Amino acid sequence: MTLHKIYIVAFSVLSVVFHAQNKKEMSELIRNEFQFAEKQYNFLIHTVPQDKMPQSYKDGKLVTKDISWWCSGFYPGSLWMIYEQTKNPEIRKEAERTLKIIETNKTFTRDHDLGFMMFCSYGNAYRITKDPKYKDIILTSAKSLSTRFRPGMQAILSWDKMADFKGPVIIDNMMNLEMLVWASQNGGDKKLEEIAVAHANTTMKNHFRPDYSSYHVIDYDVNTGQVLAKKTFQGYSDSSAWARGQGWALYGYTMMYRFTKDKRYLVQAQNIAKFILNNPTLPKDKIPYWDFNDPEIPNVPRDASAAAIIASALLELGQYTSGDEKKSYVDSAKQMIISLSGERYQSKLGENGGFLLMHSTGGLPLNSEIDVPLIYADYYFLEALKRYKDWY
Ligand code: GLY
Repeated sequence: MTLHKIYIVAFSVLSVVFHAQNKKEMSELIRNEFQFAEKQYNFLIHTVPQDKMPQSYKDGKLVTKDISWWCSGFYPGSLWMIYEQTKNPEIRKEAERTLKIIETNKTFTRDHDLGFMMFCSYGNAYRITKDPKYKDIILTSAKSLSTRFRPGMQAILSWDKMADFKGPVIIDNMMNLEMLVWASQNGGDKKLEEIAVAHANTTMKNHFRPDYSSYHVIDYDVNTGQVLAKKTFQGYSDSSAWARGQGWALYGYTMMYRFTKDKRYLVQAQNIAKFILNNPTLPKDKIPYWDFNDPEIPNVPRDASAAAIIASALLELGQYTSGDEKKSYVDSAKQMIISLSGERYQSKLGENGGFLLMHSTGGLPLNSEIDVPLIYADYYFLEALKRYKDWY
């Protein structure tokens, strides 16, 4: 064997060993994380009032919300994902109890958030149990959400009344399309998918800047679809890139590619990923500051929820790409998972109100939920752990 061949063989052996070692380390980390989640949520279960959903933790007290709040599906959804990995019957009991509480949301049409509320919860419940009653509830919810589609603007109206907006569509709304397309492809009306596709196309046309960062709110004339203004509600400024919004965009287009296999959605997701991962303000631990354009970076809060959403989305994008590109998505997601599992972001058992993660930011300009645990950070973190375990 020539020296060159020996080198190639040695290199291949080393890469296999390295890959196996890496796989083992990650699978241990993920197993530990689900065991921790089981114990930590057992603590949370015992502090949640019967008719409310846990949202955050502030000044030593659990913050809860009514079931019509956009986050009401994340607690049941997180419980289902923990149950799936641990088979703990107490966790399942709480998951079933909380599903029942939010069931009445299935006819809720006052805003666009029904996908978050009913698919993150019932979607996971159905995926895990295949109980047809859960599917019925998802189909009804998708129909309710579709009533918010406004043909004049070819998009789903996000809010009825908010600030001075006339026809607001926020980038977050991309996430609600998952329930529509899933329902359409699983026994629901074909129109549901058409609505989702129209919304995704309109958003692709109007929500993005040339660098593929996203505006938060596009305000439309509801009748003509004319763009009236490009604004923010939760970001630093109208022209800034609010971190969680970039996460919603990345997740949204990756998910739309999953269902439709429309290449334009894949390319959009790849470009959004580039914006996020090449952003000079993205720290080494890959947990973004709350807004990529806050001029006070690094002296501003992080947003662990944005990191969890981005990690989960990147892991899916890795499924549709190959080579160095795939590697960069998976490596970045892995770094996010490792950071979120570490001391800086993860709570200690029995602390932080029973939530898994610290340091998320809900609405900094609204002076709301700054540097706190948030239920949806936990949800997307658990989803990222599951995706890593299943796919890599
Ligand atoms: N969908 C609301 C938020 O991301 O804060």
